[in-house]
Amino acid sequence: MTDTQHAHWTRRWTFVLAATGSAVGLGNIWKFPYITGEYGGGAFVLVYLACIALVGVPVMIAEILIGRAGRTDPIHSMLRLSREVAGSPAWSIVGIAGVLAGAMILMFYSVVAGWALDYIWQSASGSYAGAPATDIEAAFGALTGDSNRQLLAHSLFILLTAGVVGAGVTRGIGSAVEILMPLLFVFLLVLLGYSWATGDFDAALNFMFAVDFSKLSAEAVLVALGHAFFTLSLGMGAIMAYGSYMPGDSSIGKTVITVAALDTIIALVAGMAIFPLVFANELAPGSGPGLMFVSLPIAFGNMPAGTVFGTLFFVLVSIAALSSSISLIEPGVAWLEKQGLRRSLGTAAIAIAGWVGGLLCIRSSAVFDALDHITANYMLPLGGLLIAVFVGWFMRHNRVQLEAGIGSYFLFELWYFALRFIAPAGVVLIFLHSLGILKF
Ligand code: TRP
Repeated sequence: MTDTQHAHWTRRWTFVLAATGSAVGLGNIWKFPYITGEYGGGAFVLVYLACIALVGVPVMIAEILIGRAGRTDPIHSMLRLSREVAGSPAWSIVGIAGVLAGAMILMFYSVVAGWALDYIWQSASGSYAGAPATDIEAAFGALTGDSNRQLLAHSLFILLTAGVVGAGVTRGIGSAVEILMPLLFVFLLVLLGYSWATGDFDAALNFMFAVDFSKLSAEAVLVALGHAFFTLSLGMGAIMAYGSYMPGDSSIGKTVITVAALDTIIALVAGMAIFPLVFANELAPGSGPGLMFVSLPIAFGNMPAGTVFGTLFFVLVSIAALSSSISLIEPGVAWLEKQGLRRSLGTAAIAIAGWVGGLLCIRSSAVFDALDHITANYMLPLGGLLIAVFVGWFMRHNRVQLEAGIGSYFLFELWYFALRFIAPAGVVLIFLHSLGILKF
């Protein structure tokens, strides 16, 4: 291998790491299991997987393509490319709404990440070791009922995020991801083994993979679509911003398949680690955001060396959350920097907005739910729809073909078709369906 080839391979790998760091986070380990429980299991999981493959993957390729062709922050990338096709500057709304969506997601994301930080302490101090399931459930309730304790952890997480982004080392955390992400995966596999040995594995398999469409509501379909965007970090410019660092000649398609596959596997493994414990301990699968914070400590509290294992697990989850949250504010910070604001100031501005929003989420679960619902289920799919329409219908075919770098003609046309027709139609149909305008 020559030096240049090696350098490019390394840079492609860096991108895979950064994108995986952004994609894999609380969405996989916390949100996916709890919404799967809430929306009834198998049929929801199937729709989610279909959304990843048919909508998420095609849109992710398009979003990276815009970033790499535009080579700047999402707002200016959209402006630059729309000017090329004599399009309206209004396309930059994708970037602007993205900056807003990123800040709004940070508001509740950092509260949940704060819970993970709090559980590092709870695990290390052995507070739930050997405790019965009912006590462990009560301990989660005690945390969500204690504003000050949540505020402390939430503030700490915002500071960590702002520290990394403000110092401009966002791209430098690849090495942390490279080591810690596989380690998190190993921990999840150990938990999976533990759940298989001690939990109700059959009930979990049945719950997650037996498809019963009668359990599927219109809202469940919307949430599955929204989560496909959320978990892949799509529709708000995060992946666009990372794409602007990607070398020009590497294949976007291969990279995206890798990231989407890793992200999906981690979510499914997390689900299959959690649900056997849920059923064996008679917890309700639809019990909401506390699902992971109750079921996993039950396992840690009973397994050998559970104190050490549980502590390290929550450290890894917190780091996964951090490598995701930096991508929530990076596009906004990059944009403010381009407007002439110092990086540290831009970071501080967005972090303070996130901090205040988090404060409101701690005070009111209605604010928490509304932010989650509006961003994941509406703003991200809408952003994704605009990205698909822009690349699929407004950019020139030749340019798209050149930029995508998909070697095989067949695969390129397959993707192009999915981007122009399947992804937009999917988002629009699901929106209409959830509004009750369309029945299927
Ligand atoms: N994908 C992350 C997760 O699953 C969350 C996230 C990070 C995100 N950056 C994003 C979601 C950008 C939407 C857009 O935890």
